[in-house]
Amino acid sequence: PRPVTMRDLRRRVKAKEKFAMLTCYDATTARWLYRGGVDVMLVGDTAGSMVLGFEDTIHAPLQFMLTITAAVKRGAPNAFVMGDMPFMSYQADEWEAVKNAGRFMTEGMADAVKVEVDERFVGLIEKLDRASIPVVAHIGWRPQRTPTTGVPIVAGRTQDKIKKMVKLAKKLEDAGAVMLLIEQSTAEAARAVIDAVNIPVIGCGAGPDCHGHVVVLHDWLGMTDWQPSFAPPAANGGKALQDMGERWVELVKSGNYLKDGGPYEMKEG
Ligand code: KIV
Ligand code: NA
Repeated sequence: PRPVTMRDLRRRVKAKEKFAMLTCYDATTARWLYRGGVDVMLVGDTAGSMVLGFEDTIHAPLQFMLTITAAVKRGAPNAFVMGDMPFMSYQADEWEAVKNAGRFMTEGMADAVKVEVDERFVGLIEKLDRASIPVVAHIGWRPQRTPTTGVPIVAGRTQDKIKKMVKLAKKLEDAGAVMLLIEQSTAEAARAVIDAVNIPVIGCGAGPDCHGHVVVLHDWLGMTDWQPSFAPPAANGGKALQDMGERWVELVKSGNYLKDGGPYEMKEG
């Protein structure tokens, strides 16, 4: 196997082969997901909650994101790994954003970066493209907006809003975005965007028609206490971990652990 490239993803879209993507935050998990055929991964800023334990995705430090992005790539060198640019790594200044995106490509060993955008970020997308940094434009519901809106919002619920989303999508494509990611929208909105652009469109709760689909790994594993309706858990991962914890406690408490003396023997002298 060789590394998955943008060209491969475009080819899949042409061949109407959907690609399955998951978020991932560490090397070991990446290795196993890749063995399972998941060859597109997003090192999402959801790491702020899934790994660091914060309530939202505002708390995902840049250095931390760079470190775990590189970790995922080391675990799955042939996967297409997307680094998620965290809060304040791209909003304040466009040239600083380009440099931070560059760090995702070098230190983070990412294949692309993702930024949450609206019309006001079209210039940034152009600058990233100018720097040859493949950029995925995240539209629809943007979790980094939560402090302003107060709650998550379903995108594209009216014809007017769909029109606006399509207009934005086209602008982002023209500015050089290599892919779009639509989070939490109606299927109709995603359909309209897919019909309007020529780049791959990834959905995160955006209806059936997207070329690729992504959900948060911990939701899929059943390790979160709550999952969005578009990410029904495939397993009781949390409960499985709990059971393994219980078994270890039992084994140690019973006094049976290493009761034959353990694997290491004394040597002469
Ligand atoms: O950070 C993340 O996990 C994401 C996806 C859910 C799209 O941005
Ligand atoms: Na994100």
